Amino acid sequence: MFSPFAKAPAPFIRNIGVERSAECAKIHAASFAYPWRETDIEQLLFAPEVFASGAIDARDLGLAGFIMSRAAQDEAEILTIAVASDRRRSGIGRSLLSAHLATLSAIGIKKLFLEVDADNAAALALYDTFGFHAVAERKAYYRTADAGRAKALVMRLDMP
Ligand SMILES: CC(C)(COP(=O)(O)OP(=O)(O)OC[C@H]1O[C@@H](n2cnc3c(N)ncnc32)[C@H](O)[C@@H]1OP(=O)(O)O)[C@@H](O)C(=O)NCCC(=O)NCCS
Repeated sequence: MFSPFAKAPAPFIRNIGVERSAECAKIHAASFAYPWRETDIEQLLFAPEVFASGAIDARDLGLAGFIMSRAAQDEAEILTIAVASDRRRSGIGRSLLSAHLATLSAIGIKKLFLEVDADNAAALALYDTFGFHAVAERKAYYRTADAGRAKALVMRLDMP
């Protein structure tokens, strides 16, 4: 029986491709001051060395978040992770990262890197729970929405 108080089912995570480019672009645009164009996302999703996972809403099959990495031999870099703004803090980012790490591990990735704005407390807390640690700093690396510059941290995770 329908109940307005029933908890929404958690999205399921699966690999995604170019068919999700428009949805990725929409979520990316709502998440970053300088969003990627849909055509750039499409090109990334076409590339054989790029691996992407999406969180799919179990009710309407729409995209609630995604993560994308580029692999080279036994190393990979997380290019981006973003969750739809109205779906944050419900475990989607954690589920995406966890499933993505399993995918990367299965293709033989041993070292994983990412760059993150040093002021991005949400992302830093998420990466911390997975054991990423800062290995370098890039000063004045990101352009901010107010035309300023923000420091980036390069983080690394050694995969088990
Ligand atoms: C970073 C982001 C992907 C996290 O996604 P999310 O679905 O909200 O994260 P989860 O609900 O799975 O949270 C997992 C953990 O991350 C940390 N976290 C997430 N959001 C946080 C916040 N706003 N403040 C502090 N910690 C936060 C917490 O440790 C949290 O665990 P907890 O809920 O047990 O405390 C999301 O905030 C986002 O899309 N931000 C905009 C894009 C972005 O900044 N991407 C990172 C670029 S490097």
